[in-house]
Amino acid sequence: MILDDFRLDDRVALVTGGGRGIGRALATGLAEAGADIALTARSEEQLLRTADEIAVATGRRAVEFPADLTDLAQIEPVVDAVLREFGKIDILVNNAGTINRAPALEYTPQMWDEVMAINIRGAFFVAQAVGRHMVDRGRGRIINIASLLSAIGVPLIPAYTASKGGIAQLTKSLAVEWAQHGINVNAIAPGYFRTDNTQALQDDPERNRIIVERVPFHRWGDVRELQGTCVWLASDASSFVTGQVIFVDGGWTAT
Ligand SMILES: NC(=O)c1ccc[n+]([C@@H]2O[C@H](COP(=O)([O-])OP(=O)(O)OC[C@H]3O[C@@H](n4cnc5c(N)ncnc54)[C@H](OP(=O)(O)O)[C@@H]3O)[C@@H](O)[C@H]2O)c1
Repeated sequence: MILDDFRLDDRVALVTGGGRGIGRALATGLAEAGADIALTARSEEQLLRTADEIAVATGRRAVEFPADLTDLAQIEPVVDAVLREFGKIDILVNNAGTINRAPALEYTPQMWDEVMAINIRGAFFVAQAVGRHMVDRGRGRIINIASLLSAIGVPLIPAYTASKGGIAQLTKSLAVEWAQHGINVNAIAPGYFRTDNTQALQDDPERNRIIVERVPFHRWGDVRELQGTCVWLASDASSFVTGQVIFVDGGWTAT
């Protein structure tokens, strides 16, 4: 039956940036669909709180693995620790990311490097470390978190926009290379959702007005509205879907 194909019972998902915001919502959705959850990010306190909330709400196992994913030396040990704890990783949600806002003429190398270090370099090397395990098993799902900014440009975020354009292309590159190993690699490209990442925009009445006017639904997205796409891409229901960037943006890119 088709709804059974969406179930994730006995699957293990690693969610980067899983302590808050979109990562927390996606981890919760995957657990509600039946998966056990490994969460990683820097803030141990947020990871612990989210893991507790998921375990209580869903009855699934949820365990925290604190790490700074811009430090490549910390990536392999995290993946090894998840494998020791859970025995496998079926699903990787590559969600950890950051943003630095400034006019392009004032953008510093440090601002550029901070964004790239996690949004693209960290994301690739997490996918590589988990990909080794998935290639060995001959199966796996990787879901990268891209952005509306993978497709369009807006002022003040040159590094972020470049990194999210890069993630969309990385998704296609890995999808084509790893299809032979039974690994589906897709991306979710969120529009504007209320999280810490967009706090500066929410707090700026003029930018807020422009965003709400432009989105065909005339509102911000709620992070729960990303869960269905994530569960679908993690599940057997999307078995022939790979290399795709799915926009969940309230219709912005249709205008
Ligand atoms: N909110 C939106 O409207 C929106 C739209 C499009 C795309 N996105 C993307 O969605 C993803 C999540 O964003 P969000 O809105 O939920 O932002 P957020 O609330 O700021 O969450 C970002 C997450 O990434 C983690 N992270 C950042 N740097 C890290 C590092 N060096 N090592 C490990 N973890 C790190 C953070 O945890 P720690 O700080 O504890 O490390 C946090 O859990 C990002 O990739 C973002 O670009 C968001």
